Amino acid sequence: MSHVLSRREFLAAAATGAAASALPISVASAQASNTESTAGSIAGNASTSAPAPAAADIYVAPTGERELVIGSLDDLEAQARKILPPGAFAYIASGADNQVTIRSNREELDRIRLLPRYLVGKPAPDLSTTLLGEKLSMPIITAPMGAQGLAHESAEIGAARGTGEAGTLYTMSTAANRTIEEVAAATRGPKWFQIYLHDDRGPSRELLQRAEAAGFTAIVFTIDAFAPGASDDTVRLGFSFPPNLPLVNSKTPFFKRSLGWDDVEFIQRTTRLPVILKGVVSPELAREAVKRGVAAIQVSNHGGRGLDGIPATITLLPGIVEAVDGRVPVIMDSGIRRGTDVFKALALGADAVALGRPVLYGLALGGSRGVKSVYDRIAAELQRAMLIAGVSTIDEINSDYIYEG
Ligand SMILES: Cc1cc2nc3c(=O)[nH]c(=O)nc-3n(C[C@H](O)[C@H](O)[C@H](O)COP(=O)(O)O)c2cc1C
Repeated sequence: MSHVLSRREFLAAAATGAAASALPISVASAQASNTESTAGSIAGNASTSAPAPAAADIYVAPTGERELVIGSLDDLEAQARKILPPGAFAYIASGADNQVTIRSNREELDRIRLLPRYLVGKPAPDLSTTLLGEKLSMPIITAPMGAQGLAHESAEIGAARGTGEAGTLYTMSTAANRTIEEVAAATRGPKWFQIYLHDDRGPSRELLQRAEAAGFTAIVFTIDAFAPGASDDTVRLGFSFPPNLPLVNSKTPFFKRSLGWDDVEFIQRTTRLPVILKGVVSPELAREAVKRGVAAIQVSNHGGRGLDGIPATITLLPGIVEAVDGRVPVIMDSGIRRGTDVFKALALGADAVALGRPVLYGLALGGSRGVKSVYDRIAAELQRAMLIAGVSTIDEINSDYIYEG
């Protein structure tokens, strides 16, 4: 019973927040504080609150399409909080438990110091790179994220389009609100499909075949999550996926709970596409994955949404890079917010990084154009970092630019 009431509460807040999202941000902000206080009063007195009106059972996401002026990607979180319903915002923004991992992702990146080289006579920086045969405008790609319809009415279509317009790669999640075929058609840019396995191999086989047929060029197998990320705030707010935003490909947000190397083999057998293992946090696992023919490693702690207490990915990266020893590309995600973060990850051996939440905030605030603005901003920052550091190509970024003290 309390579950039903809290779901209503989330949806009621959703409707209010969505109405606010159609307004300029300053006005939306005032409305959003109403939304928060309404949600708070219901949460504090669930047993006496009246059921929300039927219309509130429809989640209405922001719809605006606009270019964003972005000072820092970090600014986007506060702006998105103002226009998204509290439950949806908590689902996107929060980390698990005490949020130790989500904090360390940032703290450890900030702890690293860089050392530029001056008077080296380098040409202007070129950010382009190649990753598993895909030509990218920058070594930054979109991480797979589920239920993007919470952020914007265009959902995965807007995010894929914005990423493609920035000239880089979109990873589509199994837990999407739009079909594999719709997302494939939304971007001419490179795209990978992320798989969560079902208990039954039939539906998983079908997803892999559909992704390959639709033109996705690699499969990202996520090994560190089995259900939607739950934080203290999503529990408090009774968050669940709104019924009018179905996960159209997977039909469920709950996935196979017991995974082993036989599952990796199943994917490799079922598709001709290269398989990337996402969620690698130890050199042993990375070594074994390479031995078993995995095409790339994605070092990730799921943006601090999984096991709280896992170290920052930037801390884990060097050991994994050493274990991989250049045999396959290494991608790193979790906590990347700045061009200098990208520079640091590349200097410590990553071939590329993936961006998570900032893409969803850009989507919420400006649709596909908002996503493109996020990439424009972080690319400009990376370009500036390269220029000052004295490197002109992505391949030149190495540990010589890390200050060891
Ligand atoms: C709202 C949200 C949904 C996510 N859904 C998925 C998913 O469906 N599959 C997956 O492999 N990772 C998922 N992730 C994790 C991201 O792929 C990525 O590892 C993480 O967001 C990177 O950290 P960052 O948000 O700090 O950049 C999700 C992350 C967020 C924020």
